[in-house]
Amino acid sequence: MILTKISLLNFRNYKKIDLKLSKGVNIFVGNNAQGKTNILESIYLLALTKSHRLGIENTLIKIGEEKAKIKGTVKDDKIFRDLEVQLEKQQKKVLVNRTEIRRIADYITNLNVIIFTPDDLNIIKDSPQIRRNLLNIEMSQLSRSYIQLYNEYSKILKNRNEYLKRMYINHLSDEKYLHILDEKLIERAIRIYQCRRSFLDRINQKIGAIYQNITGVSGLSIHYEPNIELSTFTSEEITKKMQFKLSTNFDRELSQGTTLYGPHRDDFSFYLDDENMRFYASQGQQRLAIICFKLAEIEIFKEDTDTMPILLLDDIFSEIDRKKKNKLLKYIENDIQTIITTTDLKDIQKSVLQNAKIFDVRGGFVTERVD
Ligand SMILES: Nc1ncnc2c1ncn2[C@@H]1O[C@H](COP(=O)(O)OP(=O)(O)OP(=O)(O)O)[C@@H](O)[C@H]1O
Ligand SMILES: [Mg+2]
Repeated sequence: MILTKISLLNFRNYKKIDLKLSKGVNIFVGNNAQGKTNILESIYLLALTKSHRLGIENTLIKIGEEKAKIKGTVKDDKIFRDLEVQLEKQQKKVLVNRTEIRRIADYITNLNVIIFTPDDLNIIKDSPQIRRNLLNIEMSQLSRSYIQLYNEYSKILKNRNEYLKRMYINHLSDEKYLHILDEKLIERAIRIYQCRRSFLDRINQKIGAIYQNITGVSGLSIHYEPNIELSTFTSEEITKKMQFKLSTNFDRELSQGTTLYGPHRDDFSFYLDDENMRFYASQGQQRLAIICFKLAEIEIFKEDTDTMPILLLDDIFSEIDRKKKNKLLKYIENDIQTIITTTDLKDIQKSVLQNAKIFDVRGGFVTERVD
């Protein structure tokens, strides 16, 4: 798919801009703090209704304004779709072809993006939440049913946690309602565990070869670490083990008022041979491992959907050495729309520059270069 146009109104440091994008490579170049990342962020937000920068929803609207709007036109095969995200202080609206879509799950498969940012460096070493978030985002873009499933699970989990707290405070001993919630929770947990395992299996089938191709080193793999020990991932196994965990940890869950076992506590790790990269890897190794994870995802996209996601590359080229950069760029094929930000065009290979559309970004203004 291709994003042909994007318009921003009162988004971040932009008052109003309208841009026509090329179906190949688009480069936004400018000094620090001029608005390059804000452009990528707006495209990410148009796709996923959230920013890729976590926990900053209330800074998206231009300072001093009440509302922001992001609009874009997506060309998917031969079909055009107009997407729109409207932001107000306390609410968000999403529209497809000017019709409001109530459920986010029904919206976010309209535009698929994969983002590469300097913040990705945190993925390997930071808290599990960041990795779960990555899994959820990527799997949601591939499958509408995954996001529905995860939303259902999260709702039941919230109810269960609230009920545990109520039981504790009010000294309730009737566990009947809790068991009803357990059953519902486990039913969703089974499918989430299975979906995640099969997604990570597929990443694993690809990531080692991609990493080797770029770095010349073999042995990169992903280890899925569900927070209950699972070997077969059959429904029976998951049900049995979760029931066991929930019943044997009841007192602990009651006193903490929270559910201690389930996919909301999952994690995964990157390994180079037998070494967990969380403890050993250099910054460069971590960065490349994450890049390879995302390149593996692109291949999965290719296999599962007839279309390619749009790549958003936020200033990632300045930090990778030239040889690896060239190999990496080879993965960014001609048939994939790519949007790159950089402070310096020198960081980008000539062959890429030749065919790229270049935009200069300065203080919230964007001008297309014509030469
Ligand atoms: N809500 C907002 N209203 C007005 N300006 C904002 C808002 N949010 C962010 N900005 C401004 O947008 C500017 C540009 O931010 P952005 O992250 O896009 O810069 P950048 O060009 O990517 O810079 P760098 O090269 O350092 O990454 C920042 O200086 C910031 O002050
Ligand atoms: Mg930036």
